[in-house]
Amino acid sequence: MKAEIIGDLHTLNDRTRALLPAADIPLLYFGLAHACLATALAILTVNPSLPGPFFLHPRMVAVVHLVTLGWISGSILGAFYIVAPLALRMPLVVGWLDRVAFAAFAAGVIAMVTLFWSAQYSAMVWPASLVMVGVLYVASRTWMGLAGAVVPWPAKLHVALAFANMIGASALGTFLGLNRAHAWFTWSPLPSAYAHLHMAVVGWATMMFVGLAIVRASRSGPLC
Ligand code: HEM
Repeated sequence: MKAEIIGDLHTLNDRTRALLPAADIPLLYFGLAHACLATALAILTVNPSLPGPFFLHPRMVAVVHLVTLGWISGSILGAFYIVAPLALRMPLVVGWLDRVAFAAFAAGVIAMVTLFWSAQYSAMVWPASLVMVGVLYVASRTWMGLAGAVVPWPAKLHVALAFANMIGASALGTFLGLNRAHAWFTWSPLPSAYAHLHMAVVGWATMMFVGLAIVRASRSGPLC
């Protein structure tokens, strides 16, 4: 009987420990996110006419990705390491592979933005792949962990699809970059960029926000 109680306490402690949010990984992502935002602001402060009359040119695309990929996506990934254990009640214990995934994401974002800046669309494949590998690692941990998360299924679905859309948008963006350089398909650049950016902005950032809003609502409303 005593052994059973001690066993239960151990299980409880393990579960409680697994639900403690990590401190270092969110800080790494937030540091990168803020550095990207500060760089974008500095570029536009020094050269406010950079956007010009039309936005879809290499230097503007570089600044846009400092904000969308570096700042917004970096902040989402960093915050997810806090939100998953605390709000979704989904253990996300940090190991060395999470640091490798962060390093891949950070190196990929910096290299991608640099290559966009100098209009080297055909060289974008390897940094874009690094970004995808980093995101795919967090995504696969999430997809596996969501089954045990203590939240309503619509929230799980939104979070799972948000990660899937991020991977899809990144793959589409990589393909569009290559197509820009090699002109395999004679697609107009504007509609294809719109397809990519909607998949990323609506499918990734907004969907993640809605999923977490469902969690918030479920704790105070009829969904719980
Ligand atoms: C590995 C990830 C990504 C890759 C490889 C990528 C690649 C690209 C490419 C090739 C373009 C079109 C550039 C052109 O035709 O001139 C583009 C445009 C755009 N992308 Fe991405 N992208 C990625 C991630 C994202 C994410 C996560 C977001 C938003 C959350 C995003 C938002 C946008 C926007 C808003 C544009 C339009 C650019 C402008 O307004 O000047 N991208 N991206």
